[in-house]
Amino acid sequence: MSRQPFPDLARIDAFDKVQGKTKYSSDVPFPDLLHAMTVPATIGKGMVTSIDVEHALAVPGVVRVLTPHDTPPPPPGPQGSPPPPPMLVHAIAYRGQPVALVVAETLEAAIEGAEAVRVSYALEPFAVRFEDADAGREDTESPTFGDADAAFATATTRIEAIYTTTANHHNPMELLSTTAVWAGGRLTIYEGTQGSNGLKNTVAQLLQIDRSMVDVISPQIGGGFGQRGEVPRHTAVVAQAARLLRRPVKLVMPRNQIFHNSRFRPHVQHAIKLGADANGKMISAHYDCLQQNSRRGRYRSDWYHAGPCKVYGIENYRGTSGDLRLDTHGPAQMRAPYEHPSAFAFESAVDELAFALGRDPVEFRLAHDTKIDASTGKRLTSRHLNECLTRGAEQFGWTGRPVQPGTLKAADGTMAGWGVGAGVYQAAMHPAIATLRVSANGVTRYASAGHEMGQGMRTAIAQVLIAGLRIDPARLTILIGDTTVAPQHSTAGSWGTASSVPVAVAAAEKMTAALAELLDGRKVAGNMHEQLARLRRPFIEIEVSMVAPGQGPEHLERLKTGGMAIAGLHGTYPDFTALSYIAHFVEVHVEPHTRRIRVPRVVSVADCGRVISPRTARSQVQGGVVWALGAALREISETDPRYGGWLNADIAEYHVSVNADIGKIDVSFIDEPDFDANSAGVKGIGEIAMVGAAAALANGVFHATGRRLRTLPIRVEHLI
Ligand code: MOS
Repeated sequence: MSRQPFPDLARIDAFDKVQGKTKYSSDVPFPDLLHAMTVPATIGKGMVTSIDVEHALAVPGVVRVLTPHDTPPPPPGPQGSPPPPPMLVHAIAYRGQPVALVVAETLEAAIEGAEAVRVSYALEPFAVRFEDADAGREDTESPTFGDADAAFATATTRIEAIYTTTANHHNPMELLSTTAVWAGGRLTIYEGTQGSNGLKNTVAQLLQIDRSMVDVISPQIGGGFGQRGEVPRHTAVVAQAARLLRRPVKLVMPRNQIFHNSRFRPHVQHAIKLGADANGKMISAHYDCLQQNSRRGRYRSDWYHAGPCKVYGIENYRGTSGDLRLDTHGPAQMRAPYEHPSAFAFESAVDELAFALGRDPVEFRLAHDTKIDASTGKRLTSRHLNECLTRGAEQFGWTGRPVQPGTLKAADGTMAGWGVGAGVYQAAMHPAIATLRVSANGVTRYASAGHEMGQGMRTAIAQVLIAGLRIDPARLTILIGDTTVAPQHSTAGSWGTASSVPVAVAAAEKMTAALAELLDGRKVAGNMHEQLARLRRPFIEIEVSMVAPGQGPEHLERLKTGGMAIAGLHGTYPDFTALSYIAHFVEVHVEPHTRRIRVPRVVSVADCGRVISPRTARSQVQGGVVWALGAALREISETDPRYGGWLNADIAEYHVSVNADIGKIDVSFIDEPDFDANSAGVKGIGEIAMVGAAAALANGVFHATGRRLRTLPIRVEHLI
């Protein structure tokens, strides 16, 4: 593969998207389609004692009401993120948990029917607020190395602070939805998911059928980032309705119910102590994180350490972590799930330490460059964090920034501040299998694992196929997210491009070689399609597979049989640690009377290895920055201590930032391949995009006002 930067091509789906032609799963029409609506529990916790469906069945158009008696009993053992298993059950673990499913000829009848279902409950006490947790902290073992206590005792400059990141909910444009179709003894599920294979496995298990009978088709997702990484509560119930009624059934879950039933970012308290020696070197870090979890949730509390224990090569690190159990749905992944909250806390703490030392925060970070992952002792592959910081500072115009807060003023007299924040994120990879067929009729068909959740997966694959093959790009079809065309894995953890692109590069190379063999030295004019036509070959089809560093054929086998085989979790490979890096620079304006915070400009420089699709990579970083600043200034999921669940369960009261809320976001890339990580040199951009940006904003607020705000979101009232 050539080392030339890839051209800045438009997204291959751009025209379809702006013309509304892109079909999301709930857009797929079916004759005879039934509509479903869930009946959410109205209590915080307890037992369903009876369900009266009579009034619901009397609504014209209502066909059936499914209750816990109509779904198979949940199988024993772990299922996604408990509690409870994603089926209808009598035990209510949290407010909003579906109790019943009403199926009707029209959506209106389904909604009216759902409102007519009468449910009786036996109430139980519950706790939903972090401060109301009714049981003790459960500790998890966390990364610890060196002797942080001894080093802290010898430190000459120390800081100690507690930071809080509050619960946040996913609010993508596309609502969670499932359409289930039974035909010829097979179940096909149309659903926007990041893990079509995991969905296939879990639904088969829940419905007690063989996984070979289930297909999952998820070609387009209107926003992923972790919300669609597990089987939602309703999917198997909708599939069961379709099985019982022998007709296709569709459910689009209303946003208000999604708040209660889908994954969210938990509330976390981060306690940090940092110590530096007389030379200003960070020699000790203590980091404790305490997160909210559900009663039986398995969302890990120790993974907040993934970034902080590696980023600055601090040799003495003591990590601790724990859970407080509450009565909600399980918290789980949401873009940079551990790295965004931990970077807010840790990068704020680093800023506090730099300030205590009288050092410039960029220069202070530059002085902590490292070639070693201190947590494992392994070599770090390509680490361009210092280039990100240096280039970002230059583009931002950081030089001459006064160290003292409250001294910078914008042109109109507004208090101004400049903040910096940095981040790391794992460069992980999943094995993949791809088939590529180039036909004489001008068509190219490529099928592999991967999910297009708006991030540009198809565009990245198209970039390498178009660069590597002389084909007609207008007639290139890329089939992903579909269990019928290739073994699927889940697209998450920023391993999407690193998993889907190397195998696409290999496919292009193998196709080129296959055609060359056919040509046998002859010169035949035209592109590949024309050459095949002249050779009277209708098509060439090849298959290729690719594993991650340190993996072997058993990992491909696991992929083929429906398992996950991820490599590079937390950047850890057998021989090295591979990470993506970023530096964000944020200018903050604080209006002196209202204390309203504005962000006129951001500069972000990322090292994500080789940039495959400049357009979508840039867009990922812009989106990540908007999201981080939204989390820093607006987003908070408020719990309801009276009735359980979430109080501001709609986008009128849960404020999501949009591009127009932020001024200019200037994004650039180091664009240096990392060939340790994979043969395409890709490290991943989806989540690193947002890491450290919230801290850069908070550090900017400190620089503007002298106020160190340690709880997100930062609001006007915190600055008065
Ligand atoms: Mo991502 S939060 O791993 O989809």
